[in-house]
Amino acid sequence: MTVRYFTTPIYYVNDRPHIGHAYTTVLADVAARYARRLGHETTFLTGTDEHGQKVQQAAAARGLAPRAHVDELHVAFRAMCENLGTTHDRFIRTTDADHVVVVQGALQRLWDQGLIESRRYGGWYSVSEERFFPEKDLVEGKDPVGKKPVEWVEEENFFFKMSLYRERLIAHIEGNPGCIVPAYRAQEVLGFLRQPLEDLCISRPKTRLAWGIELPFAKDYVTYVWFDALLNYLTGIGYPDGDWRERWAESTHLIGKDILTTHTVYWWSMLMALEVPVPKRVLAHGWWLMGDAKMSKSSGNVVSPLGLADVYGVDVFRYFLLREMVIGQDASFSEEALVRRNNAELADDLGNLVNRVLSLVERRFDNRVPEPGPEQPLDVEVLASIRGLEATVSEAVEGLMLHKAVDSCAALVRRLNRYVNETVPFTVAKTDLPRAGAILHVVLSALAELSWWLEPVMPRAMAELRRRLGADGRSLVAGASIDKGAVLVPKHELPEAPVPAAESPTPTAAPPAPPAAPAPQAPQEGVALIGFDDFAKVALRVAEVLVAERVKGSDKLLRLEVDLGSERRQIVAGIAKAYAPEQLVGKRLVVVANLAPRKIFGLDSQGMVLAAKHGDALVVLCPDGPTPSGATVS
Ligand code: MSP
Repeated sequence: MTVRYFTTPIYYVNDRPHIGHAYTTVLADVAARYARRLGHETTFLTGTDEHGQKVQQAAAARGLAPRAHVDELHVAFRAMCENLGTTHDRFIRTTDADHVVVVQGALQRLWDQGLIESRRYGGWYSVSEERFFPEKDLVEGKDPVGKKPVEWVEEENFFFKMSLYRERLIAHIEGNPGCIVPAYRAQEVLGFLRQPLEDLCISRPKTRLAWGIELPFAKDYVTYVWFDALLNYLTGIGYPDGDWRERWAESTHLIGKDILTTHTVYWWSMLMALEVPVPKRVLAHGWWLMGDAKMSKSSGNVVSPLGLADVYGVDVFRYFLLREMVIGQDASFSEEALVRRNNAELADDLGNLVNRVLSLVERRFDNRVPEPGPEQPLDVEVLASIRGLEATVSEAVEGLMLHKAVDSCAALVRRLNRYVNETVPFTVAKTDLPRAGAILHVVLSALAELSWWLEPVMPRAMAELRRRLGADGRSLVAGASIDKGAVLVPKHELPEAPVPAAESPTPTAAPPAPPAAPAPQAPQEGVALIGFDDFAKVALRVAEVLVAERVKGSDKLLRLEVDLGSERRQIVAGIAKAYAPEQLVGKRLVVVANLAPRKIFGLDSQGMVLAAKHGDALVVLCPDGPTPSGATVS
């Protein structure tokens, strides 16, 4: 059996987990689950980075000793892993006793070999990045990574002779295509290495930073947080005494693109100095952006992964993370995009398909998986795509392009829907039951295979799908009992987009929520008074409903076409729970006619219907007498 070793970065405990952390954790978990599925003995390590200035500052800001702070905050990262269903073998903390031993051992060894030496040093230091930057790298006097202020710091310090390794690093990267994924990131590192490589300051005087691992050969210093943190990957598998070499030879570090230099240049030169082979691969993924900005604590635009997984389910959240980001590139995060993926690909394409075929099996085949039948050309084609899934997924997994594994699963589901539309088993069942059974057998076999290959991404939902199919592992069993069960993946309403302030004529005249708000809130104490001029900005008109229909996939929304006298408009209104579409056709309503258009559930909404709301009851406002369409309301 071959082995595999996957790691995530260890996360700073200066804040709560956010989606950037959740992403790498899920990605590594999916990689580990796929590796196990493909028969590799797999180790998966994640954890927290607990030393250093950022953490010391975060603790101080909370009025806590660093130890109390990290003991409390690291729990949030453990909870994130639990909540995301990750299958890590160890959650390492850099404050763990065995890690401290490894770090001090490595420092001592490099000191003994003369690869660390003491020097007086002055340099530009960034507190936020916790490192010195050469003057030439500063951007407008600020650090080039976080664009934060730097300060000139002069002190006696200890240096790791990283500059000795420049040529070997270049030779390694050039001689091992695939050691940095995606390949274009290797070019970035080579570009960095074309410049002169400086030695690395690996100490901090305790007078400036007390919270760290003490240098075994200089008691007044602690080690630089990155020197400490990177070694976690070796501690996690029992270096230096345990049986770590085989796994190390098959190691993959999954990281974000912002920490690629530390993971290749710093880390690999440290390893070369320690005479440990460099890891097999480093995968650098892109950033999740909110709008155009990286999501980060300092930007104040973070999305809590735990909240989203709670609302939409862990499996849906994991699927979205894998499907939405092409590995290596940046992706935009929005809750709306998550709901759209869920509704289109999971609820509609997959969930409906499962529901339709299992219903037919229940009704016409006595709840048992039908026997296969003679294969027709269309069946042969679909059976070939089912058999092809393993190869496509394996290739994606081995190349670490995990999003492609999910893409091929989604493509198979689309192919199956086409197959069902082409072979119409529901119609065929009326005249030729064995053929309908044969078609269903093809579809159910495909679903069993799909559940097997999508399970690393959606562990709970796919295990549940296999249970419903009565499958044995990835194989369908003719005659096995099926269990249609409830909806496999529910649909969700699109989240309400906040209306930018500029779109609202006044806070009271056009309340921002719900979308196409049917019911402005009843006047309440404390609501600001507005002048007549403000009220006059709102164009209220009488409109006759010409067409009304439900919005597919929503139980709250109706799509209306209304006559405004001079024009016809489409309005999406949240009144479907109170009115059936047919009750509205021909009615004259009052609408806000000058509300900026918005997309609601993918449809343009060009106005807002007024309604009164009392508790759960909701009634639309209508003129109390014959009034032409377009009449003004004031
Ligand atoms: N502690 C160091 C890593 C040491 S590994 C030996 C660290 N921690 S971190 O908590 O700041 O960041 C951890 C990871 O989260 C990094 O890989 C970073 O790229 C990732 N992300 C942080 N924000 C992100 C996004 N908005 N999007 C995707 N990932 C990003 O760095």
